[in-house]
Amino acid sequence: MEREKEGEADINMKQFTSVHDVANINALVEKALAYKANPLVDKSLGAGKRMGLIFLNPSLRTRLSTQIAAENLGMQPIVFNVGSEGWSWEFEEEAIMSGTTVEHVKDAAPILGNYFDVLAIRTFPSLQNKKDDYSELFMNQFIKYAGVPVVSLESSTLHPLQSLTDIITIREHLLLAPPLEEIGRRCKIVLTWAPHIKPLPQCVSNSFAQWINAWGEADFVITHPEDYELDEQFTKGATITHNQDEALKDADFVYVKNWSTYTDYGRIYCNDPAWMLTEEKLKTTNNAKVMHCLPVRRNVELSDEVLDSSNSIVTQQASNRVWAAQTVLAEILRSGPL
Ligand code: CP
Repeated sequence: MEREKEGEADINMKQFTSVHDVANINALVEKALAYKANPLVDKSLGAGKRMGLIFLNPSLRTRLSTQIAAENLGMQPIVFNVGSEGWSWEFEEEAIMSGTTVEHVKDAAPILGNYFDVLAIRTFPSLQNKKDDYSELFMNQFIKYAGVPVVSLESSTLHPLQSLTDIITIREHLLLAPPLEEIGRRCKIVLTWAPHIKPLPQCVSNSFAQWINAWGEADFVITHPEDYELDEQFTKGATITHNQDEALKDADFVYVKNWSTYTDYGRIYCNDPAWMLTEEKLKTTNNAKVMHCLPVRRNVELSDEVLDSSNSIVTQQASNRVWAAQTVLAEILRSGPL
């Protein structure tokens, strides 16, 4: 409790894989904004420490922002693109490795744990095997065998660094706006499904819902076509509607994201272009700020007119990835080894 008062609620952060690793979201957000104002204030915190960034899947923002964050703290980041440059990993216990996998995570991860003080990993879902994906098989096996603190760079079901960034970005805008208490209502955040040409993971949407619900400082609405319900463990607490027009009314922030179906796992049931967010649709909002984690399919998920308008804060949002990563790494460094 005392630590929460001091804004140090997360001093025992030993890993960062979901909102459950965070004791006080607002304290973390304030620390991130302080890093944004003064990026090198802790430039000696990670001196002599190495961070391994392990990518089984592609990335632009996560890869670069986390490296910059580590360097701002004096750490040496080293990237390993396992997915394109390394041996193919096996994650199943007792697997008979007579197929395409070459190296078991129980052999690879302890070596990485000896090379690095902190590890971070990106492991997308298969979208074929719901049980493995939603049990976070890859992430949990990596954590089990790494022996050092692990940061998620996006897993099968969640993208916590993105979600922390999203709340940092929303908070920045709320600080600039007239206090909502004065106008007698809470901030309204809408997560809207958008069309896409291929099945995408539910990670960003699950994670955004999980964090906004845990944050608890906004009225939160999720809108999507029928049969696109996300896992209730993440959405519980939000208002869910299939009526996008109704959802968008008076919104202050609109988060646009495609996801494939969860119940009948990893499918595309709808590609209706009417779900794309356009300037016309934004007219019913409270001049909403438009968010997207990127990369975005222009004129499929979001129209050019919206993305290139002053309502769009996607560049600011992606730029804030540095401060989210720096804050999490600083908390992990301060918490010490496992
Ligand atoms: N938003 C996000 O995670 O971007 P990258 O996939 O480019 O890292």
